[in-house]
Amino acid sequence: MSRANPGLDRRTFLRALGCGGCAVAGALSIGGCTVAEVFGVTAGGELAFDLAEPRFAALGNVGGTVAVEVAGRPILLIRAGAERLVALNRMCTHVQCDMNPDGGSGRWDGQKLICTCHDSHFDADGKVLQGPATRDLTTYTVRFDTASGQGTLIVGDAPEPVIEDPTPPEFRDLTNPFAADDADALAAGEQLWAQCSGCHGVAGEGTSFLDPVPTPFNTDSSGYSDGYLFWRVRTGGEGGPPNTAMPAYSVDQLDDEQLWQVITYLRSLGQ
Ligand code: HEC
Ligand code: FES
Repeated sequence: MSRANPGLDRRTFLRALGCGGCAVAGALSIGGCTVAEVFGVTAGGELAFDLAEPRFAALGNVGGTVAVEVAGRPILLIRAGAERLVALNRMCTHVQCDMNPDGGSGRWDGQKLICTCHDSHFDADGKVLQGPATRDLTTYTVRFDTASGQGTLIVGDAPEPVIEDPTPPEFRDLTNPFAADDADALAAGEQLWAQCSGCHGVAGEGTSFLDPVPTPFNTDSSGYSDGYLFWRVRTGGEGGPPNTAMPAYSVDQLDDEQLWQVITYLRSLGQ
């Protein structure tokens, strides 16, 4: 999973799917359980909703959002206007942060959906307003009756979100030689982390004085593949959003062994 998908919050997606460790996110059959079984949706991928139900009540106010999963798609319903209710795929097309405002990395500011991972902006039609994302979000049809407060979200045959692995091929298959609980690697990695903590925070909490902000690592980082992390540290800004402060660490600064040690430590921060 993580190798095919080094994106940031894939874990959130998998958790939402309720089938952690499935081979193909968004597939119509997940680890033996079908999507219909997981979500209780109809074959066509529809979700009927009623604003009178507590879980949809937030959509009663303009600006309100509700995250749902239908047919394997992580979707954000947004009350974009008095008469307007839209449904966008929540996976940021940059490197797949889950833009769930509830516990994920998204925020609807009344006009646009902001991905707080690297500050991409999307409008209510899913169009990119500001990068680093370059591809629009997948949108889904919503039928909504303002008077009754009832509606239907129709996933139907809307195409799957494009999920690309940005990791260059030469890094993609790398794996960390150290076990997650290797005490020596963790101790060495903790020392090396002093080079990172000025930006990423001592406990991986991230800081906010830079734009784009340093990625926080104090939450589960299992969504990142080893190869992705190695690539990003080795080549720095090359793989990041424009104007990132993330430095490239050459082999003279961190040899391969040290780089894996710091990755081992980085992953431990979210445990
Ligand atoms: C000068 C500030 C700075 C230092 C020092 C720094 N980083 Fe970063 N790092 C950033 C910023 C800003 C980002 C977010 C933007 C990006 O992805 O490039 C980032 C992103 C990353 C990412 C990619 C995360 C993602 O979401 O794709 C990794 C991995 C990473 N840093 C690891 C490290 C490690 C390990 C060190 C120390 C060896 C380190 N960084 C040192 C600023 C820094
Ligand atoms: S993942 Fe959304 S801006 Fe980078």
